[in-house]
Amino acid sequence: MCGIIGYCGPKPAAPILVEGLRRLEYRGYDSAGICVVENGHLELHKKKGKLAALSSVLPPNVVGNYGIGHTRWATHGEVTDINAHPHIDGAGKIAIAHNGIVENHESLREKLTDDGYVFISETDSEVIVHLIHSLYEGDLEAAIKQAVQLLTGTYGIVAVHADEPNRVVGARNGSPLVLGIGDDEMFLASDVTAIVAHTKQVVYIEDHEVVTITPDDYRTTDLTDRPIDKKIEFISWELAEIEKDGYTHFMQKEILEQASSIKRAMQGRLNKETATGHLGGLNLSSKELLEIERVKIIGAGTSFYAAMVAAYLIESIGRIPCSAELASEVRYRNPVVERNTLYFAVSQSGETADTLYAMRELQRKGARVLGICNAVGATIPRESDGGVYIHSGPEIAVASTKAFTSQLTAFYIFTLIMARMRHMSFEEGSNFIRALEKVPDQVESILARSDKLAELAAKYAHFNNVLFLGRGLNYPVALEGALKLKEVSYIHAEGYSAAEIKHGPIALINEQTPSVFIVTNDSLREKVISNMKEVKARRGPVIALCVEGDTEVMAIADDHFAVPSAHELMYPYLMMVPLQMYAYHTALVLGRDVDQPRNLAKSVTVE
Ligand code: F6R
Repeated sequence: MCGIIGYCGPKPAAPILVEGLRRLEYRGYDSAGICVVENGHLELHKKKGKLAALSSVLPPNVVGNYGIGHTRWATHGEVTDINAHPHIDGAGKIAIAHNGIVENHESLREKLTDDGYVFISETDSEVIVHLIHSLYEGDLEAAIKQAVQLLTGTYGIVAVHADEPNRVVGARNGSPLVLGIGDDEMFLASDVTAIVAHTKQVVYIEDHEVVTITPDDYRTTDLTDRPIDKKIEFISWELAEIEKDGYTHFMQKEILEQASSIKRAMQGRLNKETATGHLGGLNLSSKELLEIERVKIIGAGTSFYAAMVAAYLIESIGRIPCSAELASEVRYRNPVVERNTLYFAVSQSGETADTLYAMRELQRKGARVLGICNAVGATIPRESDGGVYIHSGPEIAVASTKAFTSQLTAFYIFTLIMARMRHMSFEEGSNFIRALEKVPDQVESILARSDKLAELAAKYAHFNNVLFLGRGLNYPVALEGALKLKEVSYIHAEGYSAAEIKHGPIALINEQTPSVFIVTNDSLREKVISNMKEVKARRGPVIALCVEGDTEVMAIADDHFAVPSAHELMYPYLMMVPLQMYAYHTALVLGRDVDQPRNLAKSVTVE
């Protein structure tokens, strides 16, 4: 999604803004621009396409030392130079960059047009700059405070005025904004990755707050100008974590990191002496945990599929009724919040609008919602009633990989805690922990055989449709396998419960439609094998993801990839990792933009 950055300090702003935008590229964008104030005039440069296109039109001698920048992910209006941000007012004095959506932009545009303002772009954002201009009486911060009160919708805004030297103003409602405190320089950004190269001291701006930065100071207020004291927080991760570090792609790096990221998600959270787990952030006493009668999990995309695995586990192993639901659907169906029900909002970025708004709706109705998040300090973990960080480290590739396996880990530990408080014996708890602790090494051994997945990808990359089929715990894995493939390779892929194909999808099967079957040694194995045979009987190519030594499945499939034999509950990890690698290699074969697939955004902050 769109990214914003603002800088104010002693150095030339342009290179800092462009570098910040480069760090925000991972969020997904289709045009970029910067505006620097130089000798009292706005130096505006914007271009559709990637940052290279912007850099090619940037004059080398832009020396102004305060300014703003933006990467746009088009919502209102096509991808054009004019629709790119920043937008400036007709007099060429004010520049703004905006993330979010102005829902009442049409009525504001009409009114401003009647007042003589001329619009040159098709964006909803341009109304903001004209609105600020119409309210400006010599103080940008004051004009912004009035302007945002007339907006319906969401915004993260950064703005400069040519006549207000060394000042950048930011405002937030629903779109993230963070302040970075440097040495005699200040930054504003939509996420910390844009500024971590310069400072690790940050202040998270909340909704309905306004922040003004100067090189050596900042001021945070509410919309009525009341000062707000903000806590300075420290970013714990290192710059190297947002670099490719010798890998060709972030997606490759993040898939390969999983043995250690899964281990990190478990660290200090498993207790062998008591054969249970501990998740401090839950903020729930044993008594409260015991009183939980139902668990509901909300999320979107990959996080939703992790929630589906969790729902299966929590219900079948924890013996607590549990369901997973798309956050985007929960919000609008006037959900009933039941007593003794614990909710989880699961999100890698912690900023996904669908999940955040659904969480707020549930909280308004009295629900206790815990977050399972990766990005520290993001809105969902800050607004939730407790929760767990999965500690995957920054996930830069748009396609989520390592966050999925770490989200699973948090839920596996939660399942263990709940099960041990109810029916699970010490012995069973110990087995569960032993099995979970083996996962990182098993994942490592799978990743060591990535060549075989590259071969499979090369063989099947030119098919236009692929089905992914699994059952039980591996049904959501099939869904996530299909999502990964379609995201990064643009091949049409669908996931189904293997049992469902006879209810419709089998009509798609022919020589041109391969099916990836996930087959383990669980109680549904024979049924899945029958489904494989049904596909083979219709000449559908079959790729089996199976367990080492499973000669029966290997004999039926055209191709296979075998994972180490494991505790039956651990296969979602072991089956998911090769599917991620398969998608990655398929994208490579097809020459796709692996880390920033077309049309996609990393952090989806609009509905
Ligand atoms: C898939 C992907 C998306 C996200 C979804 C939710 O690879 O990246 O489907 O999983 O947008 O994002 P988070 O987890 O940040 O809430």
